[in-house]
Amino acid sequence: TERTLVLIKPDGVARNLTGAVLARVEAKGYTLVELKKVNATRELLEQHYEEHVGKPFYEPLVEFMLSGPVVAAIFEGHRVIEGFRSLAGTTDPTTAAPGTIRGDFGRDWGLKVQQNLVHGSDSADSAEREIKIWFQD
Ligand code: GTP
Ligand code: MG
Repeated sequence: TERTLVLIKPDGVARNLTGAVLARVEAKGYTLVELKKVNATRELLEQHYEEHVGKPFYEPLVEFMLSGPVVAAIFEGHRVIEGFRSLAGTTDPTTAAPGTIRGDFGRDWGLKVQQNLVHGSDSADSAEREIKIWFQD
């Protein structure tokens, strides 16, 4: 069955929302396969965000992801990739739909980066690639 990489970004961890986020994903019906709290390195983030290299928000994004610990999880279930993206809501937390993780817990804090609490793989290829990056062991 399908797997996806979910990250609770440093804002979500710092605001003690890890349990609330994981509970929503589990309540939707997906199965937690792996879970760990990690301090990402620049090297790891350069791999994870390689598609965004050169974009104006790239450096602030990497700095944000280095600003504190991240929780990395693998969830499993039929269509979990699109299912989690739907639960997370759209990228901008200000306008993400209420009822989604970003819409309910996120807002614009006036910084250069969108602090939007979570990441979820956006395709089967990215899920496979990202799971290898975050769960090398
Ligand atoms: P992820 O699940 O984190 O990958 O979010 P996404 O797929 O909704 O967004 P995308 O992959 O396009 O961008 C990755 C991250 O970069 C986003 O989650 C934001 O934190 C940040 N980001 C994306 N687009 C912008 C932008 O236009 N401006 C700013 N400031 N940040 C952005
Ligand atoms: Mg993305």
